[in-house]
Amino acid sequence: MDNNKNWIDQRFPLTKVWNEHLAEYYTPRNFNFWYFFGSLAILVLVMQLITGIFLTMHFKPDSANAFASVEYIMRDVDWGWLIRYMHSTGASAFFVVIYLHMYRAMLYGSYKAPRELIWILGMVLYIALMAEAFMGYVLPWGQMSYWGAQVIISLFGSVPVIGPDLLTWILGDYAVGDPALNRFFSLHVIALPLILVILVFLHIVALHTVGSNNPDGIEIKKNKDKNGIPKDGIPFHPYYSVKDIVGVVVFLMIFSAILFFSPALNGYFLEHANFVEANPLKTPDHIAPLWYLTPFYSVLRAIPPMFGSQFPGVVGMFAALLILIALPWLDRSKVKSIRYRSWPYKIALGVFVVSFIVLGYLGMQPVTPVNAFLARVFTVTYFGFFILMPWFTSVGKTKEVPARLTE
Ligand code: HEM
Repeated sequence: MDNNKNWIDQRFPLTKVWNEHLAEYYTPRNFNFWYFFGSLAILVLVMQLITGIFLTMHFKPDSANAFASVEYIMRDVDWGWLIRYMHSTGASAFFVVIYLHMYRAMLYGSYKAPRELIWILGMVLYIALMAEAFMGYVLPWGQMSYWGAQVIISLFGSVPVIGPDLLTWILGDYAVGDPALNRFFSLHVIALPLILVILVFLHIVALHTVGSNNPDGIEIKKNKDKNGIPKDGIPFHPYYSVKDIVGVVVFLMIFSAILFFSPALNGYFLEHANFVEANPLKTPDHIAPLWYLTPFYSVLRAIPPMFGSQFPGVVGMFAALLILIALPWLDRSKVKSIRYRSWPYKIALGVFVVSFIVLGYLGMQPVTPVNAFLARVFTVTYFGFFILMPWFTSVGKTKEVPARLTE
């Protein structure tokens, strides 16, 4: 065994990488529940890649056959129903995990210096993931695939001057049809997964360069023993490699319960209308994207058209997403973790969470006067969180941060 290891080590830095990134990679000893979601995101990504490969073996990226090929997978391919539902339920699970992962970063100020790049790479991942999920949802060519794509892609047509040309360029046609399905398939199956994998690699390289933050928001590298090992650090392997397995088991139990008992989760993970084949002549009564995109969809609908153009709403929607990238620079607080933050910050974070969830809920509902009013109120509070952040992170009394981890 050792001989084999030597043979490899002379040709490839196996032991070096193992030690630097696992066995001698020191992580804060106080990771809690919130620190499960990074490794779970990797798990779900791998699951999506593997189930996706098997779906691609039977799926037909052709508007005349796509819907039938998915039905064929569900009914005739051995274990096809399981592979398809693992993939469709997995998409929603991915966003559950990612939203909790991002919220953790906000709770503990993990985006703050020196971890800005981890955050930015995370944001690019998040945007790529949204594009990946959106295009994936078009592929089964159900009613919501078709009409959802129609609504979202037509937004590009509202861009001044170049809008109509841009729209035709994206669609390869004048409406959503075969060319759009073909290119979405190609992007969903190869381009975006490749980008996601590369981004995850870079995200982790950046993380390992500066080291993990933790629930106390204390830099463990500032307190090292005489061997240069952080006093509050423990090797990632075996401590967290084993702890993460606990997270994986619990996650798989919850995931399986949904997968086997309610894979479409009453229309939340796969809309009812998507079990009906796309019909360009019949618009569904109510068009809404899946839950993970609805907060931004709500912002889009909340902003009224100007001169008959939806462009302001489109700008608002993208602004709501992109403004998250600026968090490391909007946050002026001296402390990172919520444990030591001031009250104004805690209240503001609460308002942000409520705004995001309410906007998400409203985005799934039909527009009524009350819903439209609420969407506007919460769009204002959503943006207010970011615009006022430099102020509320510099006022109020923060708690003293101890030199060493507290638990
Ligand atoms: C496919 C998507 C993603 C994967 C596989 C992934 C993976 C990971 C892993 C394994 C870690 C270390 C373990 C942990 O801290 O939980 C981590 C840390 C981190 N991630 Fe992600 N991540 C993803 C998306 C994101 C997104 C969307 C954001 C934010 C926009 C983000 C922000 C961060 C931050 C700030 C850290 C450092 C946290 C800390 O040290 O406290 N990640 N990520």
